[in-house]
Amino acid sequence: MGAGARVSAARGGGLLSLTSLLLLLGLGASRGESWVQGAPRVDFQERYFEQLLDHFNFESYGNNTFLQRFLVTEKFWKKRTGPIFFYTGNEADVWAFANNCNFILELASVEEALIIFAEHRYYGKSLPFGVQSTRKGYTALLTVEQALADFAVLIEALQKEYKAENVPVITFGGSYGGMLSAYMRMKYPNLVAGALAASAPVLSIAGIGDSRQFFRDVTTDFENYSPECVQGVREAFRLIRDLYLQQAFDRISQEMGTCTQPSSDSAINQLFEFARNAFTMITMMDYPYPTDFLGHFPANPVKVGCDRLLGAKNRIQGLRELAGLLYNASGTEPCYDIYKLYQKCADPTGCGTGPSAEAWDYQACTEINLTFDSNNVTDMFPEIPFTSDLREKYCFDRWGVRPRKSWMQTNFWGNNLKAASNIIFSNGDLDPWAGGGIRSNLSSSLISLTIRGGAHHLDLRGSNPADPISVIEVRKLEAEYIHEWVEAGRHKQ
Ligand SMILES: *[C@@H]1O[C@H](CO)[C@@H](O)[C@H](O)[C@H]1NC(C)=O
Ligand SMILES: *[C@@H]1O[C@H](CO)[C@@H](O)[C@H](O)[C@H]1NC(C)=O
Ligand SMILES: *[C@@H]1O[C@H](CO)[C@@H](O)[C@H](O)[C@H]1NC(C)=O
Ligand SMILES: *[C@@H]1O[C@H](CO)[C@@H](O)[C@H](O)[C@H]1NC(C)=O
Ligand SMILES: *[C@@H]1O[C@H](CO)[C@@H](O)[C@H](O)[C@H]1NC(C)=O
Repeated sequence: MGAGARVSAARGGGLLSLTSLLLLLGLGASRGESWVQGAPRVDFQERYFEQLLDHFNFESYGNNTFLQRFLVTEKFWKKRTGPIFFYTGNEADVWAFANNCNFILELASVEEALIIFAEHRYYGKSLPFGVQSTRKGYTALLTVEQALADFAVLIEALQKEYKAENVPVITFGGSYGGMLSAYMRMKYPNLVAGALAASAPVLSIAGIGDSRQFFRDVTTDFENYSPECVQGVREAFRLIRDLYLQQAFDRISQEMGTCTQPSSDSAINQLFEFARNAFTMITMMDYPYPTDFLGHFPANPVKVGCDRLLGAKNRIQGLRELAGLLYNASGTEPCYDIYKLYQKCADPTGCGTGPSAEAWDYQACTEINLTFDSNNVTDMFPEIPFTSDLREKYCFDRWGVRPRKSWMQTNFWGNNLKAASNIIFSNGDLDPWAGGGIRSNLSSSLISLTIRGGAHHLDLRGSNPADPISVIEVRKLEAEYIHEWVEAGRHKQ
C-alpha cells in the first residue's frame, strides 16, 4: 500500500514542494478558499521522543524504550489555546508525509494549530531495535495497537510540554495512515476530538470485500481514459505469455528491457507482477500535476502511460515504456532488474524495497489483510492468484506467523462503526483503494466524502490550480467539520 514511498524514500529536509511553490506564486489562492492564507512554507523541527517499547506487557521489556521521531512546527500555533493537528504516520519515512500534506498546513494556518507529524514505529528512523528491527525475530512489537499507543503517549507528552493539555487534538492520515487516524479517534476519544481518514481502506484490510476489487478498479481507471489502452495492455501481456510458451525468452527480454531472460514460470510471474505494479502506482498517483511523492510522476500519469503504450513500436515495448513511468523516471535504467525493482511480498499492490518494505510485509502477514488478485477477466492483468492459503503459507515461511481470521474486525470494529463519531472518510473515485473504504454516511458525524477525479488522498495535498473542482469542495467540507470539532473541543476546556 503506497509502496512507492518505500521505492523513493523521502530525502527529508522539508523541501519546498511544487505545490507550495505554486502557492507562493499566488496561483493556489485563485479559487478563494477560506483556509488558504498564502504560502504554508514550513520548517519543521525534527525531534525524538523516548517511547516505551511494549505498551501492553509489563514484564518482557520492562521500562525499555526506543527513540520515536516526530516533526513539529509552531508556525501557525496560537500558544496554549490553538488545537493540535496530529498526523498519524504510516509505513514510510515521516518526511514523505510532511512534504506531501500541505492541506494540513493550510488548515492549520486558519485554525492556528500546532502541527505534529509522528513517525510510525519500525519505519524511517523510529527503529525499536536499530537496523535489526525488520529482521525475523525482532518484529513482535510491530502492531497497529503498539503504533496507536505510541501516538497516544506522544500526544499526552507534547500536550504537557507545550502547556496545551486541554486543547482539542485532530488526527490526520492518508491510506494506512488514514486508518490509524480513524482508529485513534475510535480507541482514544479521550485524547482525539476528531479524525480525517483519507483514502483509508478500513474494510478491505479487515477482509471485508472482494479479492478482485483492487485490480478491477485499476483497470477501470485505464478503461475510463481509453478502452483501446486496456486492449493494448491485455495484448502486451498476451504476447509476452505467447513468447514465453514458445520459449522465445530472448525476445521478451529484448522488447521488455529486462536485464535477464525470464525463462522459468517463476521468472515470468515475477515479470508480470513487476509490470502490474507499475499500473497500481500510476493509478494511485494519477494526480493532475507532477508529483514527487511515491516516485516521480508527471501530471495525469494514466494518460501519459496510455499514450506511451499506444504510441510505441509494438505492444511489449509500449508496456516497457509505460512501466518506465515508475521504474525509469530518471531515464537512466539500462535494463529492468525485475527482482530488485519489484520485491514479491504479502502485499500484492507492492511493498516497495528496503527496510520499510520488510516492515510492511510483516504487517501484511499479520493484521493487514491484502489478499487481492488479478485474473485476466475482471481485470486486464495476467492471472496472478493470491489466496488466503497462499498468503498463510508465504507468511509462515517468511516470518513464522499466521494471519488471524477475524482479529482486525474484532479489534477495529469491521463494518460496524456506528459507535464511533467525528470521523471523515474521504476517497477519490480514481483511487483503487476507495473500493475498500467507507463510502456512505454512517451517522451525522461519520462522514463519507467522495472526490470526483481524485486519486490516492488528493485532499491531503495542498491546493493547486490544476485541482478538480470536487477536491476543492471536499476540502472545504473537511475544513468545516474540523472547525466544528475544534470549537466543540474548546468549549469543553
Ligand atoms: C522502571 O523505572 C522505574 C522508575 O524509573 C525504576 O524504579 C524501575 O527499577 C524500572 N524497572 C525496570 C524493570 O527497569
Ligand atoms: C482476508 O480477506 C479475504 C477477502 O478479501 C477473506 O476471504 C479472508 O478470509 C481474509 N483472511 C483472513 C486471515 O482474515
Ligand atoms: C487472457 O485471456 C485471454 C482470453 O482467454 C487469453 O487469450 C490470453 O492469453 C490471456 N492472457 C494472459 C496473459 O494469460
Ligand atoms: C530508460 O530510459 C532511457 C531514456 O529514455 C532509455 O534509453 C532506456 O532504454 C530506458 N530503460 C528501459 C529499461 O526501458
Ligand atoms: C455525506 O454527507 C455530506 C454532507 O454533510 C455530503 O456532502 C456527502 O455527499 C454525503 N456522503 C455520501 C456518500 O452520501
